[in-house]
Amino acid sequence: MAEPERYPVSDEWKKRARVDAGGYETLYGRSIADPGSFWLEQARRLDWIKRPEIAGDWSFDEADFHIEWFADGKLNVAANCIDRHLATRGDTTAIIWEPDDPKDSVRTYTYRELHREVCRFANVLKGQGVQKGDRVTIYMPMIPEAAFALLACARIGAIHSVVFGGFSPDALAGRIVDCDSAYVITADAGRRAGKMVPLKTNVDKAADQAPVLKKVIVVQATGADVTMKDGRDVWYHEAAQGVGEDCPAEAMDAEDPLFILYTSGSTGKPKGVLHTSGGYLLWTSLTHELAFDYREGDVYWCAADIGWITGHSYIVYGPLANGATVVMYEGVPNWPDSSRIWQVVDKHQVNILYTAPTALRALMADGDEPVKKTSRASLRVLGTVGEPINPEAWRWYYNVVGDGRCPIIDTWWQTETGGHMIAPLPGAHDLKPGSATRPMPGVDPQILDADGNVLTGAAQGNLVIAKSWPGQMRTVWNDHERFFQTYFSTYPGKYFTSDGARRDADGDYWITGRVDDVINVSGHRMGTAEVESALVLHESVAEAAVVGRPHEVKGQGIYAYVTLNSGVEASDDLRRTLVQWVRDEIGPIATPEAIQFAPSLPKTRSGKIMRRILRKIAEGDTSSLGDTSTLADPDVVDHLIENGVA
Ligand code: WT7
Repeated sequence: MAEPERYPVSDEWKKRARVDAGGYETLYGRSIADPGSFWLEQARRLDWIKRPEIAGDWSFDEADFHIEWFADGKLNVAANCIDRHLATRGDTTAIIWEPDDPKDSVRTYTYRELHREVCRFANVLKGQGVQKGDRVTIYMPMIPEAAFALLACARIGAIHSVVFGGFSPDALAGRIVDCDSAYVITADAGRRAGKMVPLKTNVDKAADQAPVLKKVIVVQATGADVTMKDGRDVWYHEAAQGVGEDCPAEAMDAEDPLFILYTSGSTGKPKGVLHTSGGYLLWTSLTHELAFDYREGDVYWCAADIGWITGHSYIVYGPLANGATVVMYEGVPNWPDSSRIWQVVDKHQVNILYTAPTALRALMADGDEPVKKTSRASLRVLGTVGEPINPEAWRWYYNVVGDGRCPIIDTWWQTETGGHMIAPLPGAHDLKPGSATRPMPGVDPQILDADGNVLTGAAQGNLVIAKSWPGQMRTVWNDHERFFQTYFSTYPGKYFTSDGARRDADGDYWITGRVDDVINVSGHRMGTAEVESALVLHESVAEAAVVGRPHEVKGQGIYAYVTLNSGVEASDDLRRTLVQWVRDEIGPIATPEAIQFAPSLPKTRSGKIMRRILRKIAEGDTSSLGDTSTLADPDVVDHLIENGVA
């Protein structure tokens, strides 16, 4: 293999590095050799009500399966993100909120103001009956109140479950029911790219399928017309009148749940990933500082949505724990035009920008001019997340956006991992476009072959993590057995990521993508099984098989094979109907790119659909279908090839 393109650490970065190459080796070496003392020392970054004396206590083995970090410690996550900054940075800006429409006003909150807002929000929640341990669903647009809501839950020990505002009423209802959430916090509507998202109306529809729901707290964000149901719905601004501006922070055990976040797997309905308090906060705070070389006074912008783990860990918890000034953006990268993101960078003098390859690819397609007409001189570090970044997008980010000055920090991680797992540290690692390079302290990645043998040196295979780390998820809500089966049964004693990876001769990691039936559409994770379940709910559909196929901007697009019930006529109309049907069932992020009507699907004699073949046909790559001799009816394949959708 040719020597990969390499961008060595610049002299300037070598000088300013918080952690240089040697520093990384020392830090990493200690974290692996002596995790107990390493993590107890790291725990000092947080403000503990009771400082822990034990670090990790865990086993990935079935007989003794458990994962705990800092279990004897007590803290409050919101107090760590707010109160402890008041003495030193009370007047520092915590949140700069940039509205969807650039003509609307920016809102800013200092840490002191954030304290007041979060306390007030917490008191409203208490007033509505929310107690420690209760689940609170948050279905919000990207407005400051979304961050207040998360932190208010953390302050009183309630467990939040954020549902992305792009999910349908059905998807929302499923998540409310799964975690028995009697409370929903929403807004009248949200704004995105000049359009309104009818959040409250969606909650009303979800409520019909979620009898557990007792109270809906509605933030007035747009003035959109909504119906308020007596006894159930409460306007936030009315409930907030007269509540106190202080609210004591609940003393929580380090292992008390902080939040649930639903994410797609390869089978079944989405899993409620549970993160707890101490380890998660430590992990997000440490990785935010290391990966982005975060320094006091930096303006930091993560352009994700709070509905995803990236928003939780790197808009709210990590950066606020570090006392950062965080930009929170309501809109999308390319509205009103494709210069917006760079204009926002200049407007708020952003130093660290964190976004997704899919956004970069979309902007790249509009050329360099929208970028070049802005200054971007404030930028120092550029991060990327969510999917493998193709070298073209990497180079564009580096050369055009960063003018060749800013390291590109390609962060590989997952909802399950809480925070960054493999990522270069600016100042420590040479960069290679497409490589996430090296593990964070405490992360012990291994590459295994299909039989579970550990491969050493340069190798390619399945990526596992051999040791627990503080930010690791602790369980699947209500289904601990599923937690074990999903992540620890494939390779006993190890956490299986479901990603493939390659390690090169320098020891740098390259993530090659999912090896299961999860696809990544515009950085959004989607289970093919979920889309299939949605399709078969339609009266015309007998069977469906969904695969991902490469898409220039989205990374992957959804390609669905649909077998219709007998007597139903295939038509373009029906195709459109089914696309809309899936959008209504799951949400716009699940919009199928292509639907191919298939009289039958390629199955083995035991009835298992051969997805490998379906993937190839969707990609238009039919030259190498591999062995089709095990198919029950090999002729099926010819029909599929002839009718593939370009
Ligand atoms: C999956 C996790 C990480 C937060 C946002 C997505 C893919 C994520 C990278 C990267 C290559 C990546 C993996 C992973 N992924 N980051 N830098 N390079 N692939 O979290 O929704 O839980 O998705 O996203 O396939 O398993 P998620």
